[in-house]
Amino acid sequence: MKKYSQIFQGTAFSSKSPKEVQIQKDHLFCINAAGVIEKVVSPDDTDYQSLLIEYQDEANFHRLAEGQYILPGFVDLHVHAPQWAQSGTALDIPLYDWLNTYTFPIEAKFSDLDFAKKVYQDVVSTLLANGTTTALYFATVHKEASILLAEICAEKGQRGLVGKVVMDNPDQTPEYYRDADTATALSDTEEFIQAVKEVAKRAKQGVYPVVTPRFIPSCTDEALKGLGELAAKYDAHVQSHCSESDWAHGYVQERFGKNDAFALNDFGLLREKSVMAHCNFLSDDDAGLFAETGTAIAHCPISNAYFANSVIPIASFQEKGVEIGLGSDISGGFSPSLFDNVRQAVMSSRMLEDGVNPALPAKERGVPNSRITIDEAFYLATAGGGDSLSLPIGRLEENFAWDVQIIDTTIETAWLPVYDAEEKLHDIFQKIMYLARPENIREVWIQGEKVHVR
Ligand code: GUN
Ligand code: FE
Repeated sequence: MKKYSQIFQGTAFSSKSPKEVQIQKDHLFCINAAGVIEKVVSPDDTDYQSLLIEYQDEANFHRLAEGQYILPGFVDLHVHAPQWAQSGTALDIPLYDWLNTYTFPIEAKFSDLDFAKKVYQDVVSTLLANGTTTALYFATVHKEASILLAEICAEKGQRGLVGKVVMDNPDQTPEYYRDADTATALSDTEEFIQAVKEVAKRAKQGVYPVVTPRFIPSCTDEALKGLGELAAKYDAHVQSHCSESDWAHGYVQERFGKNDAFALNDFGLLREKSVMAHCNFLSDDDAGLFAETGTAIAHCPISNAYFANSVIPIASFQEKGVEIGLGSDISGGFSPSLFDNVRQAVMSSRMLEDGVNPALPAKERGVPNSRITIDEAFYLATAGGGDSLSLPIGRLEENFAWDVQIIDTTIETAWLPVYDAEEKLHDIFQKIMYLARPENIREVWIQGEKVHVR
């Protein structure tokens, strides 16, 4: 019996810190039976040659071809799985109208398990093909269909964190799409948590239940309180939308006389394993509370550009100690690709820092120190997401899961102009981040299992 289940030999890019990309040229990544990286060996290490001799003729030795590179799989911190069915539509109307005229009607259809199965299988496969190895999903209010999404993640090998959405407030939800009542919303959530824990027993990569108040307006105080208690009882992840739009932010101020962050915290919903989407109106005090409680931000740059005309100041939140990852927010964001969201995160940040407003003198433009680099945006999509979820994912280090995408820069039909294998590796990395398309994602591995091949 050999010590390692698999060894991969190749050049990898991962995040060393929020600002710095680590390049591991021709390293050996030694993976154990649990799908975890047990050892990373550089060509300078003494056991490199002996490992090569021992493993290189084995079937479980994977030498990457020339032009291929290893990246950590992406961690998408905010996806509405049912909304995949309407991705790309109706993004020109405000959030409130979009929810009521498009989103709630489509989500209501997930009472039909056949329809749910079709969409959920498709969205999980699509995210895998785009290099997303972990996804934090909102499902719908329906308990059965939400359990089905967890089952599909388990089957397809994706690390899925899934929430049955709670919407019990009759004042802010349509009659055709809400929980039957508060008690049912809470009992359904508890049964959902227990069911997903059963599903998880069949999933090597981990599948997790998530406590999911949609956003404060959709929930009664009693539901928010009960959900906080369930999160504590099961030590579960929590997700919601926080301070996203003018309308939602103003509504919470009116109802509680405080911002979303403090209101959510009063109900026990800001915890180490909480992830809050958007956070466009987060104050300094709110950010301090996030740092104190270990609550992370799911930054959704494409969606924010549409629904809030907003860019959040990543660097200043990070300085305060807030964990941040990246979310597609399908379908508030139209793209299932975190590559696209990485690109948008960089572009939006530059407009925040120095966007031209002809009405203002140059020195009054924008917010200083806002811009982020492509390396920093890559961190958000990988290690930042892993830290946000408190899971050992998103880095290519010992004791982290073998969750990777193998990028092939030589696919003829895709636009990745790498002509010279001697090109600086950091330049190749940048080309991959800006230009890679699903065609370039040759293989995707999660917890040491191959889950997608192209
Ligand atoms: N706020 C409440 N529900 C939603 C949703 O589905 N998408 C977005 N972007 N914001 C929301
Ligand atoms: Fe959302």
